[in-house]
Amino acid sequence: MWGGRFAEGPSAIMREINASIPFDKALWRQDIAASKAHVAMLGACGIVSAEDAKTIDAGLDKVAAEYEVDGVPEDWDLEDIHMTTESRLAELIGPVAGRLHTARSRNDQVATDFRLWVRDAMDQADAGLEALQKALVTRAGEHADAIMPGFTHLQTAQPVTLGHHLMAYYEMIRRDRSRFRDARARMNESPLGSAALAGTGFPIDREMTAQALGFDRPTDNSLDAVSDRDFALDYLQAAAQCSVHLSRLAEEFVIWASQPFGFVRMPDTLSTGSSIMPQKKNPDAAELVRGHAGRIVGCATALLVTMKGLPLAYSKDMQDDKPPVFEAANLLSLSIAAMTGMVADATFRTDRMLQAAQLGYATATDLADWLVREANIPFREAHHITGAAVKLAENKGVALEALSLDELQAIDPRVGEGVYKALSVEASVAARASHGGTAPEQVRKRVAAARGELEMD
Ligand code: ARG
Repeated sequence: MWGGRFAEGPSAIMREINASIPFDKALWRQDIAASKAHVAMLGACGIVSAEDAKTIDAGLDKVAAEYEVDGVPEDWDLEDIHMTTESRLAELIGPVAGRLHTARSRNDQVATDFRLWVRDAMDQADAGLEALQKALVTRAGEHADAIMPGFTHLQTAQPVTLGHHLMAYYEMIRRDRSRFRDARARMNESPLGSAALAGTGFPIDREMTAQALGFDRPTDNSLDAVSDRDFALDYLQAAAQCSVHLSRLAEEFVIWASQPFGFVRMPDTLSTGSSIMPQKKNPDAAELVRGHAGRIVGCATALLVTMKGLPLAYSKDMQDDKPPVFEAANLLSLSIAAMTGMVADATFRTDRMLQAAQLGYATATDLADWLVREANIPFREAHHITGAAVKLAENKGVALEALSLDELQAIDPRVGEGVYKALSVEASVAARASHGGTAPEQVRKRVAAARGELEMD
């Protein structure tokens, strides 16, 4: 492609370090689409003849048909997907193929292809996350009344409903989706026509190619357009944050599936056994989602660091933008699908959850609140009295409500019969009916609203 200036070809190591075709062949559909849009515009603007434009367009269709059947050939001498396609086009239609690269550079070409690819990845993430939200909402609706211990410091804190707990993840995923959508709206501008870095002297129509490729408008600065990778970073950072949410949910499943907890039976389809211990059923899919989050965060970091020292405009470092994005997209879509399956098919052992909530002194706050409300005791004092009651119950190995009124009154005579109503976990969750609280009626309200958001009814 540039033999005119060179006396010698590249060394073997130059060929190898330079070749991006092993990974950027994933861009072939976008590369063909952008070339077709470009040549149609060149024809419409009279920069190439209508006949040449037609020949080139038909040739590009042929190359695409070959790629579809045989895959993209990997010849390191051709460096990347752009040169691979152009060279095959020349083999098929002859020297007229050379007119395709008029008013274009690989710099705006790759920026365009990659944007198109990332835009699809954002749409895919959004669709996958929508399916996960539907699974969460469905299970939350089934378990709006199921009581489990809520934790802080992974110590039993107050009773919550399982529906409320699952809906917490619905809210996280809702924010993740809005991050992908924001990023998509921001990135949807076409770099094509920025050429190498300065624009082009040919009378091109950038609106036309932008529109053909589904972009809202052309970018406004050619230097920025060929060296901007914010769209990839926005994607990676949204993916990283999303993967952290998925990882936290995965971690809940790992804990809940452990024998001492026993809150959930994992679906067989998303578990593995042990080659030595016959009793084992391991939550490997959840553990891998947790593990993948580390890799996805690493991908986001990798591209940030790649970009940080680059002056305008294009530098070859930017060829390294693709592997982290491709890797993150693959890991994210696997993680979303695995979590969707887990949420949809796990068996929640609500009997065990209820028992754990009852035995964990989860209603101690309710006892203290009762003393404040009914006996007009200052909260700090009520807290102290309740602490003594918990200590006594713990020593006896019983739940709070199993202490007799005599025992409670020995701690503080102001405790009355009515307290027992406040001590049940059912009363505790029902009382927390403030907006966004764990009461079953609140959970049902949020589930109904979420079903509306997802157009599930
Ligand atoms: N394979 C290159 C990349 O992915 C294409 C752009 C090459 N441009 C250049 N001036 N060498 O970044």
